[in-house]
Amino acid sequence: MDDKFYHLPVMLHEVERYLITKDIGYYVDCTFGGGGHSLFLLKKYKNIKIIAFDQDTDSLTKFNENKNLQEFKNRIIFCNDNFKNIEKNLKDLNIEKVDGLMADLGVSSKQLDNKERGFSFNSDAILDMRMNRKNNLTAYDIVNSFDKDKLSEIFFKYGEESFSKQIAEKIVEQRIKGSIKTCNQLKDIVCKVKLVKRKINPATKIFQALRIYINDELGSLQEMLNSISKILNTNSRAVILTYHSLEDRIVKQTFKQNKELKIINKKVIIASDKEIKENPRSRSAKLRVAEKL
Ligand SMILES: C[S@@+](CC[C@H](N)C(=O)[O-])C[C@H]1O[C@@H](n2cnc3c(N)ncnc32)[C@H](O)[C@@H]1O
Repeated sequence: MDDKFYHLPVMLHEVERYLITKDIGYYVDCTFGGGGHSLFLLKKYKNIKIIAFDQDTDSLTKFNENKNLQEFKNRIIFCNDNFKNIEKNLKDLNIEKVDGLMADLGVSSKQLDNKERGFSFNSDAILDMRMNRKNNLTAYDIVNSFDKDKLSEIFFKYGEESFSKQIAEKIVEQRIKGSIKTCNQLKDIVCKVKLVKRKINPATKIFQALRIYINDELGSLQEMLNSISKILNTNSRAVILTYHSLEDRIVKQTFKQNKELKIINKKVIIASDKEIKENPRSRSAKLRVAEKL
């Protein structure tokens, strides 16, 4: 497999162990990204097909451009759409039910590393953070036009940031002098309010909040989870990897409330110490699994 394409997939073996209940059929990957999970599964299970969602066109383009991945093309059906529209996409494909579904939420390392996308606070990129670039609203628009209360609400609700008010005030004060254009500019403003602590950048929660808001990440997750019992075959599973408590809470509660689902892991599954050392992104990952009754 080509390393340039390959995103180091989080909890790959745990995902495989819980997701694959039969070695033939249709599986959905809600978040194809760099294809780390999907391509591993396609390689190992020769009789499965994957319906792969990603709302970012780069994901599909990179896959198509890679000659080494041609062998998988007849077993992947790409849906360049938000996974919240999963029912509609399956209907359009004439697929009534699937044999498993996985989601590995958030942004990929490729998106974070691509400075032009404006996801990462260590860059001079214009504030953007849209996963789907057909959407209009960018981080630049929010930071430069939303009022103080709305900014503070976003930072608190989606970043659980305890300095929300002060940071919102600082942003409004700074933008009078000139618009806040880049990720670095925003980070520097946050650092004027919050002390720089070891390891974790003080702007982490603010960037997380903006990204979640812009991409309506929690709303999309909820809609997709509401669909799973309608699209899964009996005894098939949904395997969801989350990276922060807001997402994990939604998955935990939705699984619990849905009477058509059985929770497979009472205790949330986390990455091993070895994986965390090799892939720091797995540090905050939580895996939950439910089975269609
Ligand atoms: C963490 S990455 C997935 C990485 C992938 N599992 C791998 O190993 O390469 C998440 C991907 O899901 C996509 N994504 C996030 N939310 C989405 C949504 N609501 N609908 C469709 N795609 C989404 C992002 O664009 C990103 O490419």
